[in-house]
Amino acid sequence: MQATAQAHSNIAFIKYWGNADDALRLPANPSISMNLAGVTTTTTVVWDSALQTDSLSINDAPADEKATQRVAQHLEAIRKRLKLDLKAAVTSGNNFPMGAGIASSASSFAALTVAAVAAAGATLTERELSSIARLGSGSASRSIPAGYVEWCTGMSHDESVAYTIAPADHWSLVDVIGVISTGHKEVGSREGHGTAITSDFQAARVASAPARLAQCKEALFGKDFAKFAAVVEHDSNLMHAVMMTSRPPLFYWQPASLLLMEQVRRWRAEGLNVCYTLDAGPNVHCLTTAEHADEIEARVRALEGVQSVIRAAVGGGAAVVG
Ligand code: DP6
Repeated sequence: MQATAQAHSNIAFIKYWGNADDALRLPANPSISMNLAGVTTTTTVVWDSALQTDSLSINDAPADEKATQRVAQHLEAIRKRLKLDLKAAVTSGNNFPMGAGIASSASSFAALTVAAVAAAGATLTERELSSIARLGSGSASRSIPAGYVEWCTGMSHDESVAYTIAPADHWSLVDVIGVISTGHKEVGSREGHGTAITSDFQAARVASAPARLAQCKEALFGKDFAKFAAVVEHDSNLMHAVMMTSRPPLFYWQPASLLLMEQVRRWRAEGLNVCYTLDAGPNVHCLTTAEHADEIEARVRALEGVQSVIRAAVGGGAAVVG
């Protein structure tokens, strides 16, 4: 009983930060993202009656206890749903650096969910795959559907799902990621979601998130880059303001991140379509349009402090590949 699935990472335009329900990972606010074409996790799941425990290998090496536990917990949720009584061997590989603000948990738990369900010979709806993926990692719910995706908060496990709001070819946005550091971050998003509420700003950020979501959708549907840039940068700044004012505080920006953010604002003032957004890491996602992507990539590469650049167009949904 074996299957292999592939899923893309995604970058949020309107961020998920903080949970209304930690156990179910019901988010405090809705979010919007695009999948990143070519930035993938490929995962094989083998359900096997000869296995005594679940096992996990990542990028050809046995995973540590913490990662293995998190995957075993997710497999447990899938076993329950499918009424399955087998352990699994999971083999996973990313084609991008882990733990540096390029969401590896999103593509990992999306690929794991799709592979585990397919390996069991079951067929679930995209909606259900998305809600199951959410239990493993919130942003993984958004890596199940294709293209531009919205994840609604929902009041229950079944309701909190992500769905496509526009296909990948609706608007040719490109994410040019300025990689500032590939080191593992000290505090991951999982712990960060838990402390978000300790910031005085979190309640205000959450209360105004639906309005930003609506503005972002309007900009996206109307392909209005100026409007898009304003709301995306504002939303990223708000999330980082919450992070920096949580107790204990979380500082993800590095000097080179700030330098790149400043350049992005200058380049936009020059007339280029570009805006920034940062996740729980120092890397700067420079969102641009296909017509300006070469120019932006060259400029990002030339900046001091940028180690490398990853470039991704809008990607498809998670799928079984073998
Ligand atoms: C800053 O989905 O990685 O990237 O559910 O604990 O795995 P867990 O958190 P995760 O959080 C993502 C936070 C973010 C913003 C976003 O992608 O919306």
